[in-house]
Amino acid sequence: MRLWRDSSRGKRSSMASTEGSTVEKAGPAGTRSERPRGERTFVERLNNYFVYRTIRKAIRDCGAAGPILIAPCGYGWHFRLYRKDGIEFVGVDISPEALAAARKAVTPPPSVREADILHLPFTDGQFEFVVNSRFLLHFEDDFRARAFKEIARVAGRYVLVHYDRMSLRLRLRKLRGVAKPPLEEDKLQGWQKNKRRARRLVYDKKRMVAEGAAAGLTVKKLYYVSRLFSDRVYCLYEKTEK
Ligand SMILES: C[S@@+](CC[C@H](N)C(=O)[O-])C[C@H]1O[C@@H](n2cnc3c(N)ncnc32)[C@H](O)[C@@H]1O
Repeated sequence: MRLWRDSSRGKRSSMASTEGSTVEKAGPAGTRSERPRGERTFVERLNNYFVYRTIRKAIRDCGAAGPILIAPCGYGWHFRLYRKDGIEFVGVDISPEALAAARKAVTPPPSVREADILHLPFTDGQFEFVVNSRFLLHFEDDFRARAFKEIARVAGRYVLVHYDRMSLRLRLRKLRGVAKPPLEEDKLQGWQKNKRRARRLVYDKKRMVAEGAAAGLTVKKLYYVSRLFSDRVYCLYEKTEK
């Protein structure tokens, strides 16, 4: 069993554009967590589980009534675990390819719909709890602000958003001078460009508070995947009382 994966192996997925956004199409090798379970390394599977456990804790702490909305849902990461834990969910994604995979992620097939995050086909406050993971942090400010508002609109009470923060791991990498591999700009599309070049992926609480407030949300609590080993933090927002 491999413990971790050589980052130079495996092709990145490709993207197509829609209104200021991007659609991800899984490439042959897929991104890290798109690969079938059997092909993931032990460390990847451990990370997947810790991420899921963090999201689940936030959902349980809120005692949220299902179904929760997973927007976007991609190919159905964690669907199996949600099912196992009896957490009802609905997923949306703009990519038909991702949704085709999501439909096969669990049996019986989950409730997933094709939709742009900027125009969600749901009524105001339809879902008590909305999860947004591995998405907003890759986009420019304008798109992010619009998407934030739309997510907040369909949320009845809570929104959980993934951010990356300056962790011990990142600090050590900086100290060691670990460099990212050189960019092949012509091969990057959509948010890969944002992620790898334009956007700074590291957020602090002040920024989370500000962008939540602009969408009518208040920061309730931060959920760290692992303070030592992960850059990832989930910010739980609650709709601001009017
Ligand atoms: C990195 S994946 C994350 C998916 C899921 N949240 C997860 O953690 O597995 C990003 C997903 O966003 C979807 N996407 C990109 N632009 C979108 C948009 N405007 N509306 C809805 N989904 C979008 C892509 O199709 C892709 O499946």
